[in-house]
Amino acid sequence: MLAIVQETKENLSSTEERLEINYLDRSYGATTIIDGQDIISGLTQTPKSLPPRYFYDDRGSQLFEQICELPEYYPTRTESWILRQFAGEIAHKTGVCELVELGSGSSTKTRQLLDAYQTLGNGVVYAPIDVSGGILIESAHQLLRDYPTLQIQGLVGTYQQALAQLKPTSLPSRMIFFLGSTLGNLTPQECDRFFCQIVEALDTGEYFLLGVDLQKPKQVLEAAYNDAQGVTAEFNLNMLDHLNQRFAAKFDRKRFEHWAFYNEQLNQIEMHLRCREAHTVCLEALDLQVEFEAGETIKTEISRKFNLEVIQGELQAKGLKPLAVWSDPKQWFGLILSQK
Ligand code: AVJ
Repeated sequence: MLAIVQETKENLSSTEERLEINYLDRSYGATTIIDGQDIISGLTQTPKSLPPRYFYDDRGSQLFEQICELPEYYPTRTESWILRQFAGEIAHKTGVCELVELGSGSSTKTRQLLDAYQTLGNGVVYAPIDVSGGILIESAHQLLRDYPTLQIQGLVGTYQQALAQLKPTSLPSRMIFFLGSTLGNLTPQECDRFFCQIVEALDTGEYFLLGVDLQKPKQVLEAAYNDAQGVTAEFNLNMLDHLNQRFAAKFDRKRFEHWAFYNEQLNQIEMHLRCREAHTVCLEALDLQVEFEAGETIKTEISRKFNLEVIQGELQAKGLKPLAVWSDPKQWFGLILSQK
């Protein structure tokens, strides 16, 4: 069941009425019933892996915001440019609709869309969804301050939980948007299932806006995940701190190092934590002991790089008809608007 757990403390009357934050019930989610089950299965398999969503505790979300500002990390900047250029066109194509964002984070890029939809006249309703409640609430407050008529209905939870529990809108339509190429974290099979969940969550005629990172020279890609300042390395290692804190685990981050490379066969960046020396790690709350060999790695993330034609074909095949595609002059990033 949904419950209103948190509301704004400051700036009472007007912002309080415009903000609602719901924490999604875990038992509703299609996949994650017991918290940490995915960690047990990832760490008991060979090769070992951990789900990328565990990057995003509050510190991890902050580190990701820093990554977005790095000179080597082109995706955020490029997607922002595309949105700035074409948000008006997007709003014009869909008309008034509720804006549902999966993985909203700091909601920085969202502002381009909020600006565009505001000019359509009707009040804007924004439903950000994120696993990190801290960053969601903080950015919601900032948005309410800057957009005096905006309504926010935030959801704290995973995409699966959120998509299974979206409430109907009072506006003429809805657009689910998924920016930043977070889709790249999903394997092709997971991606297939995800598109099915999107289709199920939408009514006929409603929209899906997808941002995807595109294939490009290996040097550009590898630099983006091996930045000179080491922020990406810190982001990767922070997952261990998060697990320590959340599951009473005893990872010693000094015994692991960041490793990222482009896998050209699979068109994906792979991020791993490589173990420097053989040892055993206990995850107390999960009742789990994990043995590591020297040099063994935990795959913490894949970040797939897409081809615009192929991905449009996949959307189409799932019943999401591509209506328009936008890109930057170098074709480094793509934005696809589709309709159920
Ligand atoms: C948020 C998944 C799109 O894959 O580029 C950034 C996460 N990992 N640097 C990406 C990330 C390392 C990012 N996504």
